[in-house]
Amino acid sequence: MAISVREIGKTFVAEVEGVDLSRPLDAETVAAIRQAWWDHSILVLRGQSITEEQHIAFTRHFGELQDHSVKDWLLPAHPEILVLSNRGRGGVKPLDNGGAYWHSDMTYEAEPPMGSILHGLTVPPDGGDTLYTDMYAAYEALDDETKKLIEGRMAIHNYRHRYMKMAEGGKRSAPTAEQLAGWRDVEHPIVLKHPDSGRKALFVNEGFTVAVKGLAADESEALLARLYAHCVQPQFIHAHKWSPGDIVMWDNRCTMHCATQYDVSKYERTMHRTTIKGAALCQAVAA
Ligand code: SIN
Repeated sequence: MAISVREIGKTFVAEVEGVDLSRPLDAETVAAIRQAWWDHSILVLRGQSITEEQHIAFTRHFGELQDHSVKDWLLPAHPEILVLSNRGRGGVKPLDNGGAYWHSDMTYEAEPPMGSILHGLTVPPDGGDTLYTDMYAAYEALDDETKKLIEGRMAIHNYRHRYMKMAEGGKRSAPTAEQLAGWRDVEHPIVLKHPDSGRKALFVNEGFTVAVKGLAADESEALLARLYAHCVQPQFIHAHKWSPGDIVMWDNRCTMHCATQYDVSKYERTMHRTTIKGAALCQAVAA
């Protein structure tokens, strides 16, 4: 297949054309997509009419798959697929506005995912977009004083806080004993050196980062709030407006994302996500 890669809007996002994922991909095409993904943190492939098996097979080209820790949302026949659907399709529990807060996926794991591949099946005509922010650019745009303050520091991530907040708002079932036992604090550098590109990126997110290690609670809260506000300025953001069949794949280590609101009573939004295992991130890097 002859593919073309075209930057859209911002340099960290590109659209890949000329690929049909319902057909087997030759090694050359896979290599070209992989290269495009290294060159851009986010790739968009439109109009993909694929089965769950084909979604999984495509994901395997980039690494091993990682299941989500909340089993309620995994497709029974293919637990590698997380179903984000306000109608709870495929025998999974409904999930309203599942990813509607700024986050990188599953950073509460000691080895956070390398990336995710999201397939839009049914999408609302209005709202329900996914916003992405470029965490390389956000890091690079920080002032020197803030860079000095955060470099070499670690942040603590844990799923418990986010899950309980959603459960208290009635958007999640009460956690199981197994979930409660499994939610532990993990540490990642606030500024990571990307394992593939070697570039520095900010790596904190509103979803799952709970504190900056070594700071008093009020200082930690103020610093995180300042970093989050910095990262989501319009110059770093790309908005993906979904059409059915779109695939968006993102590098989880140098981007954050957030789904926008839509009228959940009026419209269905059903997305399938596969997630690719990552590795422990390097220790905090020096300025
Ligand atoms: C996610 O957070 O992985 C999904 C984002 C979305 O539904 O747009």
